[in-house]
Amino acid sequence: MTQWTAARLRGLFLEFMQEKGHTIIPSASVIPQGNVNVLFTIAGMYPLIPYLTGKAHPSGTRLADAQKCVRTVDIESVGDASHLTFFEMLGNWSLGDYFKKEAINWSWEFLTGDKWLGIDPNRLAFSVFQGDENAPRDEEAANLWREMGVTEDRLFFLPKQYNWWSTGGPGPCGPDTEMFYINTDKEPCGPDCTPACDCGRYLEIWNDVFMQYNLREDGILEPLAAQNVDTGMGLERTACVLMGKQSVYETDAFTDIIKKIESLSGKVYGSDENTTRSMRIIADHLRTACMILGDERGVTPSNTDQGYILRRLIRRAIRHGMKIGLPDVAAVAIAGVVTAQYEQSYPELKARERFIAEQLRLEEERFQRTLKTGMREFEKLSAKMTDEKVIDGANAFRLFDTYGFPIEMTVEMAQEKGLSVDTEGFQLCYERHRELSHSGAAQKFKGGLADASEATAKLHTATHLLHAALREVLGDEVAQKGSNITEERLRFDFSFSRKMTVDEITHVQTRVNEAVQARVPILISEMSVPQAKALGALGLFEGKYGDMVKVYTMGGFSKEICGGPHAGNTGDLGQFIIQKEESSSAGVRRIKAVLK
Ligand code: SER
Repeated sequence: MTQWTAARLRGLFLEFMQEKGHTIIPSASVIPQGNVNVLFTIAGMYPLIPYLTGKAHPSGTRLADAQKCVRTVDIESVGDASHLTFFEMLGNWSLGDYFKKEAINWSWEFLTGDKWLGIDPNRLAFSVFQGDENAPRDEEAANLWREMGVTEDRLFFLPKQYNWWSTGGPGPCGPDTEMFYINTDKEPCGPDCTPACDCGRYLEIWNDVFMQYNLREDGILEPLAAQNVDTGMGLERTACVLMGKQSVYETDAFTDIIKKIESLSGKVYGSDENTTRSMRIIADHLRTACMILGDERGVTPSNTDQGYILRRLIRRAIRHGMKIGLPDVAAVAIAGVVTAQYEQSYPELKARERFIAEQLRLEEERFQRTLKTGMREFEKLSAKMTDEKVIDGANAFRLFDTYGFPIEMTVEMAQEKGLSVDTEGFQLCYERHRELSHSGAAQKFKGGLADASEATAKLHTATHLLHAALREVLGDEVAQKGSNITEERLRFDFSFSRKMTVDEITHVQTRVNEAVQARVPILISEMSVPQAKALGALGLFEGKYGDMVKVYTMGGFSKEICGGPHAGNTGDLGQFIIQKEESSSAGVRRIKAVLK
């Protein structure tokens, strides 16, 4: 039998979909366009949202692709057998074309057909939506599986939490049906063992979403005029299942990368737990860094947004490289393997090979300059701590500021020694010292407030109103890039491609002052992230479910996820005056404003 590889799976999927009349479209950027509330493309459907909500796609109504995806919510878990920060998602879409019948028939054919994956049907299980007060039980999908010969013991009706897909915000959504490979090495964990438990018996390989509804801004679910299909199959994970491997790192997606790490370090993958973990982290993080740097919408390491994630990935890889004895500048050599491996699927990587190498070299140099001394400082610090188990904020800040240690890295190093870090204390130091800097890392944590005084809180409220007014006047292209607020003034950075006109500035200022004159009370409510998104709250977050957030609502003017503090009523603010609109960096504008 032919060996399974990730490349073969990708090729077969696209070939199959082409046979079924789909046009193969290239992967979109890993940096999303438009207002999607995510830092990176986290699923294949994100770049297609405009077409799933009605816009005509130039390539027709049946599309398929392999999409580059970056998900960093679980970055700390990378190092185990399964977590990845970069993965490819295979997907096929019907834009008002076919619906459940074809999607399910084809999923079955691709999974079980001899010409395709040829999986034994008895090793497959399926879940469908069990229904709730808003949408009915998906008997149609269940019946289609039954028609394929699926028996009741392998068909599971699960609640919304498992079998409903939405972007998390307003937009297309609907019930889904998931396909699982049954891992017979694991016995059912009990009589109630279903694909919903994480005992490892059911491995998810594919998801067909039936986008038959639109979640409106006001939270109401309405049927979509065109019924769409969105499917997603994780390439590395499915390849791992087909290859019968225990870990994605043992699939061909990583073979060459790990080999390179082995030859450069002289260590062997699998020889001991720490080496294996470090090698996985290096392989994963550098692969992701190459994909971000190799993207047409170039991002470089920095202290804000995508740039900060990129910096964390590179620096964490370098530190683990040091642990296993990788020589300096190893990152560039490893990147060479990544670009060679992906140059056919993603030609943009090859085209940007020099840029990737240059950026990795620069970031590595920047970090190497201080890394060794920083590590010595850290060792000294932790050696001194005998009773004390928490590294204080001032020291964590010194490691960040003087030695360039991302705070998450210090936390990880501390954990390795059974210590923890006072990250709140770090934050306070950061804000005190960085008040005047451009850096946005602090803003990620506390909204860039210098203090919690009444004057600062009022300017903070004004910042929310400004954000909303900018989007109203300039469009959804505007997204917050950072803010810095003191008792005297606010500074707000946002993405926008050109200088604002005087008219636009006046219009924005007037809108904020109208909100002040309207004297609306500011309401706080606590809810889950999907709920907040469903209500149309602004906020930058990755698709992490289950977390509770606070949403600040200012009448019809603004609704935003935030930690506060704010004024009690917009009427308390006084007159809002924009003093300056200027460039902050490429594609980012900055507004300075005061309250009188
Ligand atoms: N959007 C669905 C997912 O992410 C299917 O592509 O699983």
